[in-house]
Amino acid sequence: MTTSGVMTLDLFVSVVAVAAWAAAGVTAAARRPAAAAALLGVAVLVSLLRAGSVIALAGDGWWFVQEKVTVALPLLVLGGGAAVALSGPRLLSAVRHGRAEEARAPAVVVPLLGAAYAAAAGPVQTFLLGYPATWSGALILVAVVAGAVLITWRAVAADVPRLRAAVAVTIAVGLVGGGLAVAPAVASTADAADPADPAVSATAGMTGMPGMPGMESPTGHGVPVTDLHGPDAPEPGGTVRRYTLTARTATITLSSGRRVSAWTFDGRVPGPPITATQGDLIEVRLRNADITAGVTVHWHGYDVPSGEDGVPGLTQDAVMPGHEFVYRFLASQAGTYWYHTHEVSDLGVRMGLYGTLVVTPKGAAPRGLDLALPVHTFAGATVAGDHDQPIERQVPAGTPVRLRLINTDNTPHRLTLAGVPYRLAAVDGTDLHEPGTLGGVGLRLAAGSRYDLAFTMPPAPTDAVVLRVDDRAVALRLTGAGSGGTGKDTGENADTSKWPELDLTRYGTPAPAPFTARDHFDRDFTLVLDRGLAISEGRPLYAQTVNGQAFPGIPTEEVKKGDLVRLTVVNRGRETHPWHLHGHHVLVLSRNGRAPTGSPLLLDTFDVRPGEVWQVAFRADNPGLWMNHCHNLSHAESGMVLHLMYEGVTSPFHGAHGG
Ligand code: C2O
Ligand code: CU
Repeated sequence: MTTSGVMTLDLFVSVVAVAAWAAAGVTAAARRPAAAAALLGVAVLVSLLRAGSVIALAGDGWWFVQEKVTVALPLLVLGGGAAVALSGPRLLSAVRHGRAEEARAPAVVVPLLGAAYAAAAGPVQTFLLGYPATWSGALILVAVVAGAVLITWRAVAADVPRLRAAVAVTIAVGLVGGGLAVAPAVASTADAADPADPAVSATAGMTGMPGMPGMESPTGHGVPVTDLHGPDAPEPGGTVRRYTLTARTATITLSSGRRVSAWTFDGRVPGPPITATQGDLIEVRLRNADITAGVTVHWHGYDVPSGEDGVPGLTQDAVMPGHEFVYRFLASQAGTYWYHTHEVSDLGVRMGLYGTLVVTPKGAAPRGLDLALPVHTFAGATVAGDHDQPIERQVPAGTPVRLRLINTDNTPHRLTLAGVPYRLAAVDGTDLHEPGTLGGVGLRLAAGSRYDLAFTMPPAPTDAVVLRVDDRAVALRLTGAGSGGTGKDTGENADTSKWPELDLTRYGTPAPAPFTARDHFDRDFTLVLDRGLAISEGRPLYAQTVNGQAFPGIPTEEVKKGDLVRLTVVNRGRETHPWHLHGHHVLVLSRNGRAPTGSPLLLDTFDVRPGEVWQVAFRADNPGLWMNHCHNLSHAESGMVLHLMYEGVTSPFHGAHGG
């Protein structure tokens, strides 16, 4: 069974355990000792099953069970054990002597219901508190369970011995837990006044709270991120590619004629395509006409110098209406990328502030049909490029075609290409090694990620090449010139929904990679992704958390230039997290403990699905201050953001935020 399957099973069993203990208690209270005794047996059995499912889950990693083993199971054992010891003998004697009345004695009912409360602490902890278990959370849970037991006891018994003392202890335990929970937040607010404290440098300047100091290097001096730029001339033989992007609100018309109000670059969605040849200098003047929220441009997947990365509050201030900012960087990487605003990015990107960035290798001008297609959900419709209806093209047989598919949404898309054998030539801008011919497979494209599909247009008139999104919307239909579509075409009729999903980690063939899993890693970071209650930017939130915390509370990862860094990303939640590190491409070392057997995978965004564990590595070769976040931008907004900081780099900016 998959990890996420065991996670679901464990959750189910934990809820059934609560129900069984509660049913035993209620049945006893209803003077039915025989049924109550039977239910007690069931509850014990289910509780043992729960222990079993936790042990099974532990096999997939301590991250998945830490809070269950340290808090939930001990509570369950304690509560269940007490119920067996106290209620069990009394129930049996009530059955044996036919004295139904005895079953409703407080000494029978309270332990049974107490066991139910203790069992309930498990799922409550998993849902509300998440990973990792903390003393504060454990104490609060214990106090809540104890409080519920006391209330129940008081309700069924005329008199509870030493009730006052018990209530006092329970409240005290709860208060200590609560105190431990808020202490770090209070402490960090107090510390924030002291920029010399290195602990502050990790999070300061990112909270959006006025008056927070900027990110200072621990030594007090260093390179400001604003000094980190590339060359300001193209490479020999290259040219300067100048663009102006004006952000403004507009009503756009989709291909169906439907009009939607949008946030646009230059009045269009997607924004103007930015193209260059490797070695060119790209210079983009961003102007903001009327986006009152502010705007920046982040070059997704493009490992630009940090000062050009477009992260408000970290590498620049957001550009407000009437202002501008100029980005300049060398087109050093070939491939398919995209750009988008990073200010209120969830809303901004959803509303249309994005476009494509395609760089072609030097000396290899694109031949045939080269199409960059961002796939976006716009006002409920799937839009490819600017089409909410299929893009129809006539393409002569034999034409080389390259489709550059970009997922600009928050969730993955399943793409299928029918009617032609093709290769998945590149992922996230990087060519794969010896990608094999594909047909009849679904391609899962992570949010933010890119796939380049390459093929030769098949002969007319019998074939149409059809690209579908999520097995429903036809995004693109290529027909041989003059065929006009016959309706008998293979691509047209394919039922793609049954096509299996391509496993990227087994596609293509191995090739030497810059480093391997056996290398020595200078830094090793683990990110456990979950949900839970946390403080994010000053407000309590049911947050998307990393190691139990939400932005800006997640410790900054610090690296030195030249470090080889390993990231382990664990998803213990129930949602997919497309993980995205700015400024670097990461090499996939393993997924769920298995190394890729196909082409090396150099990615900038990778989908960590529920129950998955990814290990990736990168060389810290691009000094700066970088975002490291979930590219489901609504998750980012809910706290799933941290920073990667090179030693000695500082930021003069204040007030960056998760989005
Ligand atoms: Cu595509 Cu931090 O973003
Ligand atoms: Cu996420």
